[in-house]
Amino acid sequence: MNTPERYLITAALPYANGLKHIGHLAGAYLPADIYVRYLKANKKDVVFICGSDEHGTAIPIQAKKEGLSPKQLIDKYHTEIYDNFYDLGIRFDLYYRTSDALHHETAQEFFTNLYNQGFLEEKSSQEYYDPEAKAFLADRYIKGTCPNCQFPNAFGDQCEKCGKSLSPDELINPVSTISGATPIKKNTTHWYLPLQKYEDFLRQWILEDNGSTWRTNVLGQCKSWLDGGLQARAITRDLDWGIQVPLPNAEGKVLYVWFDAPIGYISATKQWAKNNHKDWKPYWYDSKTQLVHFIGKDNIVFHCLIFPVMLKLHGNILPFNVPANEFLNLEGDKMSTSRGWSLEMDYFIKNWVKNKPENYIMADVLRYYLTAIAPETKDSEFTWKGFQDANNNELVNNLGNFVNRTWVLMHKYCRGRVPKIVPEHFNDLDKDLIEKIKHTKTKISGLIEKFKFRESLFEIMELSRQGNIYLQKNQPWILAQNITPENKAQEQIDRCIFLCLQLTANLSIFINPFLPIVAEKLCKHMKVLPKMLDWEHAGSIELLSPNYPLPQPSLIFKKIDNEDIQLELEKLRKNMETNQPAPIQTESATQASNPNTPTSNPSNFDELAPLITIDDFSKIDLRVGKIIAASKVPKADKLLELKVDLGFETRTIVSGIAEHFKAEELIGQVVTVVANLAPRKMRGIESNGMILLASDATGKLHFVHTQDNTINGCKIK
Ligand code: MF3
Ligand code: ZN
Repeated sequence: MNTPERYLITAALPYANGLKHIGHLAGAYLPADIYVRYLKANKKDVVFICGSDEHGTAIPIQAKKEGLSPKQLIDKYHTEIYDNFYDLGIRFDLYYRTSDALHHETAQEFFTNLYNQGFLEEKSSQEYYDPEAKAFLADRYIKGTCPNCQFPNAFGDQCEKCGKSLSPDELINPVSTISGATPIKKNTTHWYLPLQKYEDFLRQWILEDNGSTWRTNVLGQCKSWLDGGLQARAITRDLDWGIQVPLPNAEGKVLYVWFDAPIGYISATKQWAKNNHKDWKPYWYDSKTQLVHFIGKDNIVFHCLIFPVMLKLHGNILPFNVPANEFLNLEGDKMSTSRGWSLEMDYFIKNWVKNKPENYIMADVLRYYLTAIAPETKDSEFTWKGFQDANNNELVNNLGNFVNRTWVLMHKYCRGRVPKIVPEHFNDLDKDLIEKIKHTKTKISGLIEKFKFRESLFEIMELSRQGNIYLQKNQPWILAQNITPENKAQEQIDRCIFLCLQLTANLSIFINPFLPIVAEKLCKHMKVLPKMLDWEHAGSIELLSPNYPLPQPSLIFKKIDNEDIQLELEKLRKNMETNQPAPIQTESATQASNPNTPTSNPSNFDELAPLITIDDFSKIDLRVGKIIAASKVPKADKLLELKVDLGFETRTIVSGIAEHFKAEELIGQVVTVVANLAPRKMRGIESNGMILLASDATGKLHFVHTQDNTINGCKIK
C-alpha cells in the first residue's frame, strides 16, 4: 500500500459479561494501543475504536447468574472494563457499545443491503427447542454429560472439564438450562452467508495478496479453514436478546452476534465522526485508509474470513492486516476466570497500581512485561517471577539505572545543566553512540510498522544498555579526579553527559508508545513539553539545549520484593482452591510412567484419596534410589529411560518426564522408587518400578527424595 492517508485501528469488542484478564490485554488492546500511540506520535490521522460487545447468548446467561437484567449487566461491565483499560493507559478515541441505537440501525442496514443484493440464503433446519420455555436453545443453553470425560455439566458447545468442543447432539442426557426440560428438535428458518462462494476471493486476498505480510500463525489458521472447506454460515438466531432481523415474518429472530459485533466497528466510527464533526465514510470506503484489526487468535476466522466477505459484498475496504496474537498463559496453565486461574486487569489495578499513590508507574511495568513476553508468534506465559525480573533487571537495572546515573553525574560534574559541547570534538565512541541512536529510530519504526512490538521494545532496551556501556567506557567519575586545562578531561565529561542526556530524550520518544507514563515522567525530569515526544524528533542529539538547568534526579522505577511475588502466588493458589469447576485435564507427565492410573486432576490441589489402612500402605515398597543413567526413549516425546541404583540392584524405569527434565541433568539425582510395582512394557522397554514426583502450582515437577544421598536401597516407612 502507498502511504495511507488515514488509519482506522480496531481492537476486538470485549463481551460485556465479565471482567477481562491480562491475557485479553496482551492479546489485543495493548498492542493496538502501542500502534496507535506510535501513529499519533507520527501525527497520522488515526481513529482507535473499541467498545462493548453486548449481544449474544453469553449476556443473558451471565445476567441470570448475577441476578441482573441483561441491560443492568452490560451497563455494569461496560463501565468497569472501560475504566480498567483506561487505568492501564489504553486510550481509545471511542469506547462504543453495540446496544446503541445507531449500531442497531447500522447493523440492520448492513443486513438489508446484503439481503437486497441477493447475497443471503434462506434455509430451514431442525434446531434444539425447549418445549416448556417455548424457546430455541443456543448450544450454551444445553447441558449434559460429556461423552469424552463423563463430566455431568458439559455445555452443548464445549466441556469445561476436558476442554473438548462439542455439539449438543453429542451430549448424553441433554437438558435445557432454562427449564430443565429435555430439548426437542424443531423446525426453524434462518439466513445464511454462503462463504463457500467466496473461497477463491479469500484465497487470493489472504494467501496471495497478504501472504508475505500477515503473521504466519494468522495465515496458517486461515489456510486450514480454507482447506477444510467453507460452508454457509447462519447469520441469524432465534433469541430474544440482540438486534431484530429487519425483515417481515422474522419475529423472535435476531442477528447472530458475530454478524453484528464487527459491524460495531463501523457504527463506532460513525459515532466518533459525529462527535468530532468529521466524515466517517472515507474510513470505510477509501482505499487510502489503512484498516487494522487487533484481536486474539480465537477471533481469526471472524476477522479474516467472514467479516471480509461481508465487507466486500457491502462495498467496503478490507483490512490491511489482522495481527492476531496467540494466548497468554498464567504460571504454567491456561487462564480461566471460572477456575480462578486468572489475573484480571481489575485485580492488578487495585493491588498493584492504585494501592499506593507512588505505584501509578506499575501500569507501565505491566505494559512492559506484557510486551516483552507478547504472544506474537506462539503462546507465552505470565509468571510473577518473570514480572519481578522484568522490573528489577530490565526497568530498574537497565533503563532506570541509566537515566539515574546520567542525572547524578550531571549534577556532580556539570553544574546540573546540559553541558555545552563542541560537536567537532566528538570521538569515535561518541560517534558510535550517535549512530546507534539514529539507527535505532529506523529499526524501531520498521518493526512497529510490521507489528513486531516485542522486538521493537527489545531494541529500545538494547539502546539503553548501550547507554550504560558508553557511560562505563567514559568513566566520568575517573576523569573528574584529574581535571586540568591541558588534558581536557572536563570537555570529555561534558560530551559524555551531553550525549547521555540526548540519549535519555531519545529513549523517552521511543518508549512513549509502550510506556506512556514513563515517557511523561522523563519529560518532567528533562523539563520539556510532551511535544518533544513527537517521533520526528527522534534520532536527533539536539533535543536538550546547552545550559538548560535540570532538576535533581528522582527514581523512576523501584524494585519489587520477593514477598510481594510470593503473596501473589499464594493468592492464586487459594483462589483456585475455592473455585469449583475442575481444571481442564491435561496429559500429566507423571501418569505416563504408570498408564494404569485413571486420569486425574494434574494440579497439586487434588482432593484427598479415600482412606486406606496401614496394611494397605505397607503393601507399597518405597526405596531410596539414585539415577545413574538417563536417555530419551526414541519416538516418545515424554518418556525417559532411567537406570536407577537401588544399592542391591540397578533397575530400568521408564518415566514420563522428558518434557520436564533433560536426561543429562538427572544423573546423580536421588529419588524415591515404588520398588514393587509390577513390571510393564512401554515402547518395548520393560519398566520395573515408578519414580515419585510432586507437581507444584505451576505444573513444575519436583523429585521426592531423602537428604542423605548415600543410602541407596533403604526402605521408606
Ligand atoms: N466479543 C468477542 C470476543 O470477546 C469479540 C468481538 S470482536 C468484533 O471474543 F469484531 F466482533 F467486534
Ligand atoms: Zn469432558
